[in-house]
Amino acid sequence: MRIFSGIQPSGDIHIGNYLGAIKQWVALQNKVYPVRGGISNKADCIFCIVDWHAITVPYNQTMLQRKIKEVAAIYLAAGLSPEKNIIFVQSQVKEHAELAWLLNTITPLGDLQRMTQFKEKAAKQANVEAGLFNYPVLMAADILLYQTDIVPVGEDQKQHVELTREIARRFNTRFGKTELSSGEVFSLPKAQTLKIGAKIMSLTAPDKKMSKSDKNPQASITLFDSPEQIKKKISSATTDSGHEIKFQPKEKPGISNLLTIYSLFSDKSIKDLEKAFLGKSYQEFKASLSEILIEKLKPFRNKKAELDKSPESIEKILADGALRAQKIAQATMQKVRTSMGLL
Ligand code: AMP
Ligand code: TRP
Repeated sequence: MRIFSGIQPSGDIHIGNYLGAIKQWVALQNKVYPVRGGISNKADCIFCIVDWHAITVPYNQTMLQRKIKEVAAIYLAAGLSPEKNIIFVQSQVKEHAELAWLLNTITPLGDLQRMTQFKEKAAKQANVEAGLFNYPVLMAADILLYQTDIVPVGEDQKQHVELTREIARRFNTRFGKTELSSGEVFSLPKAQTLKIGAKIMSLTAPDKKMSKSDKNPQASITLFDSPEQIKKKISSATTDSGHEIKFQPKEKPGISNLLTIYSLFSDKSIKDLEKAFLGKSYQEFKASLSEILIEKLKPFRNKKAELDKSPESIEKILADGALRAQKIAQATMQKVRTSMGLL
């Protein structure tokens, strides 16, 4: 069983990224999957920092270097082990670019044109470059290079993983069983999302998802926010009319989003939280949520302080990860080149 996922080193990583994606990964690194014959097997997990994706919209070069290391620090602070998993930077394994090019040649334009994320991002740019349009093909290359079975992501990435599966199927049909290739070249991947937490909403507009590109800093809590920032953002988070702490996403989107965040950080069920806060005010609930967040985000603040002091240890982990990732990527590329008739 192979698991692959990644995050772009752009903007500030927020609790939506953590709860929707990274927190699942931490659980997956220890998960054991049954295989045929009654033997169980631990999944191979690969977690990438997808810097080539982050440069598909305007960015600052100095900031990018810093963000790449910050995302690595976040992975480690969240509890991802560099021994149990492969943690690496996309641009340090050149096979991603090679496979992306090859997959471009079998990806229909129409499929890329209907991608929701492309349409949303393109609408925000004055100039749209080809890189933004081809972004899902690079993502397909990331996933397929490692013969991935499961891609743990938030709700907004399901469409890209579906497209990846289509590309893999198309490739296997076209280049699979021929005189140059003895069988399927790629495994077919599947997206895995959480039932609760796959879409954390903005604190200021709970009908929109919490997003790195939101211009309003009050809309999200980043993993490196100080205790003061956390308190301020939570106390000014949009709530709903009435005064009951109840999970009713339609009627009470603000409080329901805060309950979801509380539940995922405290590992208490929403039902139990509703009981515990019965008759309490929004203010009391928010004060308690701030405390939990301050406590649970402490490892991230600490790891960032460590990174600021000694960036070398993270560079070493990433260099080692790139070597391990490249071994797997090279094996896939060998099969791909041969099956496509390249030398
Ligand atoms: P990105 O911010 O696009 O690099 O996303 C990194 C990961 O976080 C992806 O798996 C996204 O699906 C996930 N993600 C982003 N925003 C949210 C959100 N508001 N709620 C839950 N998951 C999210
Ligand atoms: N597109 C993803 C996002 O915006 C990031 C990403 C790139 C990714 N390549 C990936 C996620 C491969 C999972 C697997 O969140």
